[in-house]
Amino acid sequence: MRNPTLTIGLVLTILIGCTPKTQESVVEQPSDSQYRPAYHFTPESGWMNDPNGLVYYDGEYHLFYQYYPDSNVWGPMHWGHAVSTDLVQWEHLPIALYPDSLGYIFSGSAAIDWKNTTGFGTEENPAMVAMYTYHDPIGERNETVDFQYQGIAYSLDKGRTWTKYNGNPVIPNPWIRDFRDPKVSWNSETEEWNLILAVKDHVNLYTSPDLKEWTKESEFGADLGAHGGVWECPDLFKLTDQNGVAKWVMLVSINPGGPQGGSATQYFIGDFDGSVFTPMDSVIRWVDYGADNYAGVTFSDVPKEDGRRLFIGWMSNWQYAQIVPTYEWRSAMTIPRELVLQNTDVGYLLRSIPVIEMKSIFSEQTDLANVSGSSFKLEVDTDSEQGGITLYNEVGDSLSILFDENYLSINRENAGLVNFSEVFPAIHRAPLNGIVIISLDVYVDNSSVEVFVNNGDLVMTDLFFFTEPIS
Ligand code: FRU
Repeated sequence: MRNPTLTIGLVLTILIGCTPKTQESVVEQPSDSQYRPAYHFTPESGWMNDPNGLVYYDGEYHLFYQYYPDSNVWGPMHWGHAVSTDLVQWEHLPIALYPDSLGYIFSGSAAIDWKNTTGFGTEENPAMVAMYTYHDPIGERNETVDFQYQGIAYSLDKGRTWTKYNGNPVIPNPWIRDFRDPKVSWNSETEEWNLILAVKDHVNLYTSPDLKEWTKESEFGADLGAHGGVWECPDLFKLTDQNGVAKWVMLVSINPGGPQGGSATQYFIGDFDGSVFTPMDSVIRWVDYGADNYAGVTFSDVPKEDGRRLFIGWMSNWQYAQIVPTYEWRSAMTIPRELVLQNTDVGYLLRSIPVIEMKSIFSEQTDLANVSGSSFKLEVDTDSEQGGITLYNEVGDSLSILFDENYLSINRENAGLVNFSEVFPAIHRAPLNGIVIISLDVYVDNSSVEVFVNNGDLVMTDLFFFTEPIS
């Protein structure tokens, strides 16, 4: 990093105590260790996409994920598994769910069955229940439409081993081609399970007493929101704004049709009575305005004393995810973020704030000369109406983060390796819509940048691949 054009109140923090993990090669390819993030989650080797089954239980955050261990491109989907006690350091665990005769294991969610509604556990040792989509590749090849349906599995040993329910599928396919990505949650007001499912261009909402028998209650979204692509990976949860007003937030990922092209996640704010979601307006809102945050969902069962709504997204974009220049592994997750609902002068905002635990890996520094390596965090305070930061290296690769009164932008046109995809070299612009920038927190981690405006009013997440380290 050299010559930031913005010098007002510049504070730098550098990464400490993080070393890249050892890598295992799955294919004969050049080493790509320079791109392996130091403080973002990546699979040890092989292909990863969406975060799945995010759940907290007994002191551990569980991150399951779409995983194909045998290649660095998408294939027969498994659920990979990792756990963390602090959302920062992750321990890799064996694969949790393997494809079976019903199909590949696509995206889904997990929750703790505290009341033992399923009968899979006991109230003393409640089951961790995963609900996921089965995708039958044979049905897909045969050009039927009913090859996606929902199944459940449970674990009685903190997610280490899993038993698939012998009554699967619990929601058969109603003859609809895109029918997937169930997110379950216990509704303590109605004392039943809720389920939100992506169905082509809308979501379906269901209820259940026991996670096995499901009743469809309503549909939402066919005539609202962004529709440039198929709807995927929805989520629905309650948040209280700073005035104590409770609202429900629905996340819906779409691909393509995002603000930078390709994949992105939109959200709706409204009310939910346990069966019907009523949006408060028809505004299209995006969780992240960068090109590389997709399929993000939130953790279940975070303890009430903590109370946070915690989010992780997949840090890539289906436009080029399978051809980015990493080989031993492909894709990282975003840093975990806390989602906060705020009623502001410019309307309701779903703010994304890096989790406080991230602070543990950065040390405070004030001297620009101390920045070393390509993994660090920059904190910039400003009262300027325009400015920016440019990251450089010795061979002239550059990545610029610029703002004026109307837009924040990231320019990765000249950011090293860009030509592996026609759409990768680009300037991404996010409209500020009345947000006045007073600070930027910039998390750089070898091949990604996440820019948080005013600690979360707006976020942009982008990948980049310099040919030499940042200098
Ligand atoms: C989203 C998605 C999901 C699907 C999964 C398959 O990225 O397409 O809809 O369940 O990936 O890996």
